[in-house]
Amino acid sequence: MIITTREDTIFLRIFAAVILSGKQLSDSIKAELAAEVALFPERYGRAPHLAVILVGEDPASVTYVRNKERACEKVGIQNTTIRLPETTAEEDLLARIAALNADPGVDGILIQLPLPAQIDELTAIKAIAREKDVDGFHPENVAALWRRRTEPEPNPQYCVPCTPRGIIRLIKAAGVDIEGKRAVVVGRSNIVGLPVSKLLLNENATVTICHSHTRDLASITRSAEILVVAAGQRALITGDMVAPGAVVIDVGINRGEDGRLYGDVDFESVAPKAAVITPVPGGVGPMTICSLLENTIDCFINRQ
Ligand code: GUN
Repeated sequence: MIITTREDTIFLRIFAAVILSGKQLSDSIKAELAAEVALFPERYGRAPHLAVILVGEDPASVTYVRNKERACEKVGIQNTTIRLPETTAEEDLLARIAALNADPGVDGILIQLPLPAQIDELTAIKAIAREKDVDGFHPENVAALWRRRTEPEPNPQYCVPCTPRGIIRLIKAAGVDIEGKRAVVVGRSNIVGLPVSKLLLNENATVTICHSHTRDLASITRSAEILVVAAGQRALITGDMVAPGAVVIDVGINRGEDGRLYGDVDFESVAPKAAVITPVPGGVGPMTICSLLENTIDCFINRQ
């Protein structure tokens, strides 16, 4: 599509993008969760308990884990972080997971990814008891999503991965009806791209998944009414790649040389064209943590 300067001006007026604050939405959800969790000691005898395992000291992972701890404290979820050295052997990690599986006082287990090379990620994920898998990464939980056993969403029997769950929540909070929409997802990771594609499909969107081998990415992203970008590449999506009026969800977290965080979407050129856009930081990130809290509460209630 060629947009003349004049039309562009009109579009700018019609589509003044709404900046969708995941931070604000997650703060209000967290307040609701805190009120819910406050009732649990009387009702169930204790609060939910999330255990996080962090292997090594990857700076991004250290930050994520700290944010998770803070969020748990805020809503009254008990949390334990097990910090293990970078050199931890796979069998030692598996022994830790087995102990958490067997601990009746632990409701949710999260292994922060990525793991060091000596540990096989799938082996570790499979070792988590399915009913304590707050990430929804266990093969049985993945299968539940792809066989639509997670519905009606959210079904506390099966955890849906945190970032995708948060993205759908955010899109719906913006008043966007997903049904029948053309959705394009850029990225095919197990953590975001694939599960968010399936969730959008479950909401009856028509979904296209793009990746590093996609030819003429721009022609596909321009067809999107809902565009979810989880490619891990700063400013991959620019204004010329987005249709006027699109809903743009930026999952990227890229640290610039200036130490600041940048998304996969070039906010400056895309925001004037989009109807709705998420900022980085303060967009999808806080929603991921919110979903983790909800998944932990779901696992807790499920085990009563
Ligand atoms: N690393 C980056 N994102 C995630 C996530 O959602 N869960 C886990 N466990 N590790 C991650």
